[in-house]
Amino acid sequence: MTKPMPAARHHDEGVQEARDALKKLNLTHRARRNRKTEWSRRLVRENVLTTSDLIWPLFLIEGEKRQEPVAAMPGVERLSVDAAVRAAVKAAELDIPALAFFPYTEAELRDPLGKEALNPDNLVCRACRAIKREVPHIGLITDVALDPYTTHGHDGVMRGEEILNDESVAVLVEQALNQTRAGADVIAPSDMMDGRVAAIRAALDAEGFESVQIMSYAAKYASAFYGPFRDAIGTKGVLIGDKRTYQMDPANAEEALREVAEDIEEGADMVMVKPGLPYLDIIRRIKDTFPIPTFAYQVSGEYAMIRAAALNGWIDGEKAMLESLLAFKRAGASGILTYFAVEVAEKLQRHA
Ligand code: PBG
Repeated sequence: MTKPMPAARHHDEGVQEARDALKKLNLTHRARRNRKTEWSRRLVRENVLTTSDLIWPLFLIEGEKRQEPVAAMPGVERLSVDAAVRAAVKAAELDIPALAFFPYTEAELRDPLGKEALNPDNLVCRACRAIKREVPHIGLITDVALDPYTTHGHDGVMRGEEILNDESVAVLVEQALNQTRAGADVIAPSDMMDGRVAAIRAALDAEGFESVQIMSYAAKYASAFYGPFRDAIGTKGVLIGDKRTYQMDPANAEEALREVAEDIEEGADMVMVKPGLPYLDIIRRIKDTFPIPTFAYQVSGEYAMIRAAALNGWIDGEKAMLESLLAFKRAGASGILTYFAVEVAEKLQRHA
C-alpha cells in the first residue's frame, strides 16, 4: 500500500528527503565505497580462484587416437590412453596440478565382482604408466570403487540385493594396490564402504607405499547429479537399484562430520565432499571443524546444467563457470575436481 507520488513533486525534493533520512540513520558505513573501482574491488577481495585449485577428471576408453564425446556433457570426451597423454601434456602446460581417471569399461570386461579392477593392465593402470613416463610432474589420482567394472554397476560386491561391506573392502584394497603399483600418487576411494580408508592405508604401508596419499570421498551423497557420469563410464542402464545403502542421505549434515572424523582417524590425508554446489554448507562445516585439506567435486550433473543453459543462451557460461568455482573457494574448499579445469586454466592464464 504505497502512496502514489504527488505529481507536482520535484525529483530533487525526493533526493533531499532521502539524504535527510540517511543522515538520521547516521550512515557512516557505505559498503559501496570499496566496490567503486576495479582496483579497490581487487584489494578487498577475500577469495581467489587459481590454477592451483584445479583437478581435472578424465574419462578413458580403449583403443588408439580416440576422442569420443559424452552426450550429456558437451565439451567432455572419453579419451584413449594416447589422447589422455596429450591431454596430460596440455594440463601440465597450463599448470593444472593433478588429473583424476575414470574408465569406460566395455560390457564384456564387466563381471559381478568387478575383476577388471584388479587387472594390472586395465585402462587406468595403462594411463597411469603412460602419463607418468611422459608427464612425470603431474599428480595422478585414481578412483577406488568397482562400479566401472561390475555388471550391476555398484561400487562393491553384491549378494542378492545387498552390497557387502567387508567383502567389498577386501577387493577395494587390491584395486588400490593395483593402481599404486601402476604409478598412482593419490588413492581416492569413492565407494563409501565402512573402514576402507584404514584397510587401504594398512595395505599400502605393508607394501612400502607409505608416501602414497589417500584422498577420501568422505562425504559422498546418493545424488541425482551423477547422471551424466554414469553415461560417461557406461553404467547408465546397468545400475541395479540405487546407492542409498552406502552413499549418504542428502538430508544429513552432522553425519558428514562423523564420516570425516572417521576417515581422518583411519589415515586420510585429504577429504572430499561430493556433489559440490548443493553441498557447500558441508564443505564449510568440515573446514570449520577439522584442520584437513578438503576438496569439492563439481560433478557431471552440475557441469551439464551450466553447459546446457549456456548453450541455450540462457546464462553466460564462462561467468557462471567462474562464479561456481569461486563459490567453492569461499566455502573453504582447498581445491575442486571440475570438468571445466582446462577451460578455467586457459582463462586464468589469459588474465594473469
Ligand atoms: C563412483 C563415482 C561416481 C562419481 C565419481 N565416482 C558416481 C556414482 O557414485 O555413481 C560421479 C562423478 C560425477 O558425477 O561427475 N564410484
